[in-house]
Amino acid sequence: MKPATTGSPHERLDALPAQVLDSVGGEDERLRELIAGIVTHLHAFVRETRPTEAEWLRAVDFLVRTGHACTDRRNEFILLSDMLGLTSAVDEVNHTGPPTMTPSSVEGPFHSPAPPRPMGAWIAEGPERDRGEAAVVHGRVTDCDGRPLPGAVLDIWQADDAGLYDSQDAAQPEGNLRALLTTGEDGSYWFRTVRPSSYPVPTDGPVGELLRALGRHPMRPAHVHIRVEAAGHRPLTTHIFVDGDPYLGSDAAFAVKDALVAPFRPCDDPAAADRFEMKGPFLEAEFDIRLVAHDVRPVAEGEAR
Ligand code: BEZ
Ligand code: FE
Repeated sequence: MKPATTGSPHERLDALPAQVLDSVGGEDERLRELIAGIVTHLHAFVRETRPTEAEWLRAVDFLVRTGHACTDRRNEFILLSDMLGLTSAVDEVNHTGPPTMTPSSVEGPFHSPAPPRPMGAWIAEGPERDRGEAAVVHGRVTDCDGRPLPGAVLDIWQADDAGLYDSQDAAQPEGNLRALLTTGEDGSYWFRTVRPSSYPVPTDGPVGELLRALGRHPMRPAHVHIRVEAAGHRPLTTHIFVDGDPYLGSDAAFAVKDALVAPFRPCDDPAAADRFEMKGPFLEAEFDIRLVAHDVRPVAEGEAR
């Protein structure tokens, strides 16, 4: 293609994307497709918003600072992707399936290896155990037709009643509010914990600066993270959100899905207290998890879900 060197600035601007796309080659077809998409959309962005040179350099400086804020323990770029809803968009395009499946949700930055624990274990072993509201979370892991999945491994992690993960709080022992649980024959699972609290995402870096500049709050509604793996089924990373949380409608990470919201109800049934070995007052949350079998075809865009 003839380079866009002639004509008015307007004509050269219009010709630029095609000229750049024409230069895209190489062996990797998928890379060519992805780069072509980015080039097309970014050129459209420049044509539409007409950034000044100072604005463009400010954007570049923001990205440089975002990179500098990354460490082995912190990924400011993933946080940026989360806060722009891009992580949730990538989640949506990758996790389609039957309407009965449990929806996925973003992993977030706070996953770390969890200790294996017996079914029904107390996973709250720090100061929150005395402070927080005791809760039992239970349910069944099944396929999308309700058949139980024995041997499914649940990897659970959550913040405490003050909104802190063990990795953010020296008062919590390592592995606190985390567990690996394996289901038995009936696919059921349960654990004892404290009700998690809503919490802010890290705001001491460039992404926090952006949230403040946009007048956005940094809060995530209270949730428990669960990743489930079972033989013959797609692994699922998801959340259980606490019903009634004030931030359910404005999650900073745009990761709430209605099917993932569960009530944490006060339970005054003595039989349930016996069954869950609870002595004092407690909340009960029921959350069943339905996994998609490997041989179920992903649903393409435009098809009924
Ligand atoms: C989290 O829930 O752990 C999380 C998700 C996205 C951004 C920040 C935190
Ligand atoms: Fe979280």
